[in-house]
Amino acid sequence: MIQFTTFIKMVLQKTQKLSRLRSLGIVTVGATALYMGLTAYHNQDQLFRTFVMPAVRLLPAETSHNLAVLACKYRLYPASKYTDDLNLHSSFFGRLASNPIGIAAGFDKNGEAVLGLKDLGFGFIEVGSVTPLAQAGNPKPRVFRLVSDRALINRYGFNSDGHGVVAQRLKEIREREDFNAIVGVNLGRNRDTLTPINDYVKGVHTFGPVADYLVVNVSSPNTKGLRNMQSKKELTELLEAVNIARGQLKTNQKVPILLKLSPDLETGELNDIVAVINQKKCRVDGLIVSNTTVARDNISDPALASEAGGLSGEPLRERSTRLIAQMYSLTKGSLPIIGVGGVASGQHAFEKIEAGASFVQIYTALIYEGPELVERIKGELSLRISELGYACVKDAVGSNYTKYLPSSK
Ligand SMILES: Cc1cc2nc3c(=O)[nH]c(=O)nc-3n(C[C@H](O)[C@H](O)[C@H](O)COP(=O)(O)O)c2cc1C
Repeated sequence: MIQFTTFIKMVLQKTQKLSRLRSLGIVTVGATALYMGLTAYHNQDQLFRTFVMPAVRLLPAETSHNLAVLACKYRLYPASKYTDDLNLHSSFFGRLASNPIGIAAGFDKNGEAVLGLKDLGFGFIEVGSVTPLAQAGNPKPRVFRLVSDRALINRYGFNSDGHGVVAQRLKEIREREDFNAIVGVNLGRNRDTLTPINDYVKGVHTFGPVADYLVVNVSSPNTKGLRNMQSKKELTELLEAVNIARGQLKTNQKVPILLKLSPDLETGELNDIVAVINQKKCRVDGLIVSNTTVARDNISDPALASEAGGLSGEPLRERSTRLIAQMYSLTKGSLPIIGVGGVASGQHAFEKIEAGASFVQIYTALIYEGPELVERIKGELSLRISELGYACVKDAVGSNYTKYLPSSK
């Protein structure tokens, strides 16, 4: 393995010295060889974990991210041949999802990789966050790998192609004959907007007709003032406006609206949020729990821990599961929850489900483990569900939520 990574490092150093044209040639030949290798190799899971992902980690984190999006965009990964077990089939806001595992927001920010992500076997795909006007986001570097903690810190700051471009992409994808994915759109707001609520209202109008669900994201830590929109007064105004906007849609009127929460909310703030969404005018159809955290619990590298931004991956896992259980308890199980934060195995996904989640999303673990992770999680989850005697995922939702409530710790 050391020899392999040294070799790749050498190739990269050499490549920098070559002319751009020759570099392009090398990249093209390399990508073709990789694709042929992937198609031919019988144990892709091991190939990814042992060679491909460590090699990809030699590149800067954002470059790797962009390459992964490109690989999905051009559908370089072979489509998964895995058939989802019947016990994974889930009703997803009125649609049938063949499994409850989705890709979280932030991977495919601009709706370029939808078909490739569907090929990997995800049951649903969340695009975004998308902002009304295109914006560049924060200065680079803005994504950091915390390898030994299986974590990432990012402060992208909503880099986005903007509503118009992303909506057009989604419209074209949906018009394809072979389109059969469930695609949600996560709505953000522009950094310098003077009318933040209106940014979300525009999002509902633009994406309502081309999305299977919408997410009101007021929980990313990298846009100043954004998380204050989770406070009682601001959230009430926001959700009321979003509900009115949905009511004005001509098509797809009942597009489900979900609210994505921060894992750093205090109990009092959670109670306030529940009081807001219990009002008819501010109703949401589901919750996404959770976004990244600004906490830095149990990080082994103090220099990286001091980078500003949202922490995701393993160090977030228990915190987000606790919040799922709290929200399941506070809403009395009345709202579907998408559980997200640090899921890297079927057991982790099951913990989110028994804490109260009906669906699960992943992101950071995919960066470390590679695309085969999707099949692995599905296989392990299906086995766990049947071992415990449940007929389907739905029967296990919230089955052990008290175990994860903070007071029972
Ligand atoms: C690089 C990166 C970018 C992200 N961008 C967004 C985003 O634009 N909008 C959003 O709602 N969440 C975003 N997230 C948060 C994820 O959707 C997810 O909530 C969080 O990473 C926890 O899941 P994980 O531990 O499986 O990564 C981002 C996460 C990462 C790692």
